[in-house]
Amino acid sequence: MNLHSFFRRKTITQILYEETGSKKIGLKRRLSSFDLITMGIGAIIGTGVFVLTGVAAARYAGPASVLSFILAGIASALSALVYAELASTVPVAGSAYVYSYASLGEIIAWIIGWDLILEYTVAAGAVSIGWSGYLVNLLQAAGINFPMIITTPPSQGGICNLPAIIIVGFVAVILILGTRRSAIVNNIIVIIKLGVIVLFIVVGSLRLNPELWVPFLPFGFKGAVTGAAIVFFAYIGFDAVSTAAEEVRKPGHDLPVGILGSLAVSSVLYMLVALVLTGLVNYRYLNVPSPLSFAMLRIGFPWISGIISVGALTGLSSVILVSIFGQSRIFFAMARDGLLPFKLSRLHPRFKSPYIIIIITATMVAIIGGFLPLGVVAELANIGTLTAFIMVSIGVIILRYKQPALLRPFKVPLFPFLPIASAVISLYLVLHLPRITWIRFISWLILGIIFYFLYGFSSSRLAAKQKPRE
Ligand code: ALA
Repeated sequence: MNLHSFFRRKTITQILYEETGSKKIGLKRRLSSFDLITMGIGAIIGTGVFVLTGVAAARYAGPASVLSFILAGIASALSALVYAELASTVPVAGSAYVYSYASLGEIIAWIIGWDLILEYTVAAGAVSIGWSGYLVNLLQAAGINFPMIITTPPSQGGICNLPAIIIVGFVAVILILGTRRSAIVNNIIVIIKLGVIVLFIVVGSLRLNPELWVPFLPFGFKGAVTGAAIVFFAYIGFDAVSTAAEEVRKPGHDLPVGILGSLAVSSVLYMLVALVLTGLVNYRYLNVPSPLSFAMLRIGFPWISGIISVGALTGLSSVILVSIFGQSRIFFAMARDGLLPFKLSRLHPRFKSPYIIIIITATMVAIIGGFLPLGVVAELANIGTLTAFIMVSIGVIILRYKQPALLRPFKVPLFPFLPIASAVISLYLVLHLPRITWIRFISWLILGIIFYFLYGFSSSRLAAKQKPRE
């Protein structure tokens, strides 16, 4: 064992041809850029806008929550450009994990892969909790009461959050049936989700009371920045598009369009929702589980409130779907590299989906959603994602210098200024998260490093290939 072996890197050629060239372990190229945009929107618009917009306005930012969305949106847009370059240059399953394997070496790639579990699996868990909350509220409105004991986690006095577990199980079955079918389900859900958000914006803008926007910054600029670190959750997901890279028909064109397109649509909607919401109801009253429905109820539109709740419920399920999809593709890439047991990457004989990995991922999501509280879970997802953004931004710079001749169908403009700005802004946001979240995050990374030395270091396929030369 020498120091070099920790930083052994794959070449891009290895990644592009050896891995995906093998029929046995490659995924089928079936997705179009339209599928990718809807997939991105499916992953992006969820708990962040349907739940956290209200929390951020009431507790941190007031009417300036629109500013929080702008700040978090800038951080995400810069990272999206970086992801677009990497995804179009290295269009294989695995996202940030694979890019780091090529630019920063195996151990960093493993740490990023491990970190991405926080992004995808933990975020999916957070959204399943949000889904359960909406379901409970909607059923309550219809006069049906679920016992608290099966809708709350142990730390809040319950046994488990059963609706969260059930929705995750349902989504896992859809995913096992295969990518193409999952994409069709997702497209329908996205139309419903966009429909209710536009409905909220249009109806809300007819009843705006601009006086509610004053004072604009009741908690100062710092409040707006803390708000940004929280509502950042709303943007998580555009990078899930890059995890599907291996299943895209024309990666060089479709991936940048998918990543940037889905982010652009979501950002505009978020800013409008934040503006309208705080222009309808005083920000102090917005710390509720379903602020958009609540606002419609307050201005006297109970029917629209109900429609928005049903749309949110539908919309949240697509976020869970795409997050589990993304996670399963990252695990797939890691298993293919031998950093996780290779057997896991086996495809279903009929549906051609990595079913073992989907089942494992869904089980993890169900445990998180079923047994943990929302706040803890959402903050961990934010710290995990922002860290991945920082590493990927550094990775794109290193790769440009190390492999300048590589074919790059899409390039980040204003290089290296934009990737540096991307890393700095993500770091700025991550520093606004609470200390306890940092402690949990660092403990998680230490666990990952131990796991690497116990398993991945010796079973890595790259290690096996390089052995004769060492
Ligand atoms: N961006 C996703 C959401 O807001 C994770 O639910």
